[in-house]
Amino acid sequence: MYHAAMGVDVNGVLARILQEATANLGSIHGIEHWARVERNGLWLARRTGADGRLITLFALFHDAMRENDAHDPDHGPRAAELAARVGHEALGISVEDLDVLYRACWGHTRELHSEDPTIATCWDADRLDLPRAGITPKPRFFSTPLGRELARFGDLSPLESLALRSLVPPV
Ligand SMILES: [Fe+2]
Ligand SMILES: [Fe+2]
Repeated sequence: MYHAAMGVDVNGVLARILQEATANLGSIHGIEHWARVERNGLWLARRTGADGRLITLFALFHDAMRENDAHDPDHGPRAAELAARVGHEALGISVEDLDVLYRACWGHTRELHSEDPTIATCWDADRLDLPRAGITPKPRFFSTPLGRELARFGDLSPLESLALRSLVPPV
């Protein structure tokens, strides 16, 4: 499948990520979570002004380099380094956009808030999926007003899922 509207070759990027991914794809931080992060992020982007291509790429990369499903604070920086190795040309984005993707991946395990609308939306999209782990999202951990608003209601699972979900392979 090709996200023509979003300009991201999801299948191609996913195949490249899976060459190096260390994450357990069927786990709580696995590919179904990635799909929900994309869905949440693209939904938030309607109001936050985030770059939808970078939301999709963040969803694909951010947890790919987890080495376990518990305490692994370096998986953000490792995901950022993977994105840098893949490179902006293969991702179909500019050098400047790769820098935003790098900082979004790097900081999602190291930082709390961002002023950058795309990075803020990536992190809020990830945190809106905390209910999968039995954790109620706390509004103070969100960067966008819409994220804070939605955090009071939990995740976005009642909303329709987006295309990435259809890519979830049997594991
Ligand atoms: Fe993560
Ligand atoms: Fe995540």
